Amino acid sequence: MTTRAVVKGIGHYLPERIVPNSEFEAKLDTSDEWIKARSGIERRHFVAEGQTTSDLATRAARAALADAGMQADDLDAIILATSTADLTFPAAATMVQANLGMTRGFAFDVQAVCAGFVFALANANGMILSGQAKRVMVIGAETFSRLMDWSDRSTSVLFGDGAGALILEAQEGSGDNTDRGILSSDLNSDGRHRDLLYVDGGVSTHSTGYLRMQGREVFRHAVEKLAQTAHAALDKVGLTGGDVAWIVPHQANLRIITATAQRMQVPMDRVVVTVQDHGNTSAASIPLALSVGRDRGQIKQGDLIVTEAIGGGLAWGAVVLRW
Ligand code: ACO
Repeated sequence: MTTRAVVKGIGHYLPERIVPNSEFEAKLDTSDEWIKARSGIERRHFVAEGQTTSDLATRAARAALADAGMQADDLDAIILATSTADLTFPAAATMVQANLGMTRGFAFDVQAVCAGFVFALANANGMILSGQAKRVMVIGAETFSRLMDWSDRSTSVLFGDGAGALILEAQEGSGDNTDRGILSSDLNSDGRHRDLLYVDGGVSTHSTGYLRMQGREVFRHAVEKLAQTAHAALDKVGLTGGDVAWIVPHQANLRIITATAQRMQVPMDRVVVTVQDHGNTSAASIPLALSVGRDRGQIKQGDLIVTEAIGGGLAWGAVVLRW
């Protein structure tokens, strides 16, 4: 027998305000056609004034708890993947913990930008396999609209706000790749590429800063590295693209999603795509897509799923799980 971290519930939250591409046409030298053709994005959600990442995360967390039929105190830990925490400290995860009324266990943030949710899932899996925790809530939540330079058409049209959460629980499996739960992961980073995608401010420089990206270069790395990391994670458990029921990719750009699926030899009707409605929500994009994919009836119990993501760092990785 082998311990597995099995998904017990999922939920998401999107802020009320929906911003179509046409809103940018009035302010920038851009067009709905360009944004759709180059990125696949049609609209995104933006937070209201005063709304924070922990607010979004709390709503997604409540939805996941309801879906699992659990109470907050049933959880041993909360891991929140975000690059846009409410405050420099404490961790936004502790704010979610308090909002949920959870008075035991522990909570902390993980920062690996768009790859954050994949890194957080792998961490949660490690804690469950080592016996440190039995039930872990893994959240991805972001307010990237707070990091936008609204005069930069090459970045401000691409990002959105939102949150998704899932609950993992220790369960005994047979130890082979037919088990439900997380089967493998592959994590990578290469700090030599930090200048390709970064925020030009931070605590040490007394500023918040704005997101800066060399889009074409990030695109090139993404297409090469995402299929590689997905294959590496599948290889570890003797699986291939042909075994995959759903790729649930980081939703940055439809062209990256399509190119990665092609390299993995997985047809697009086995890829969950939400980028048209959410834009790039960084660490929130995979749990949002998992939750929406489940609600649409795409993802069903027993399906083999590959999640993959790349972002600032560069940091990238993949997780293979059976729903
Ligand atoms: N509207 C109109 N024209 C634009 C816009 C816009 N919004 N933005 C850029 N352009 C122009 C450029 O100025 C350029 O003009 P030029 O040829 O006169 O110089 C032209 O369009 C082409 O620009 P490219 O950057 O080459 O366009 P590309 O096809 O690469 O698409 C994009 C840009 C969408 C940013 C793409 O490169 C991309 O998606 N990159 C990867 C993003 C990503 O995956 N990020 C990782 C995760 S994010 C994270 O970790 C936080």
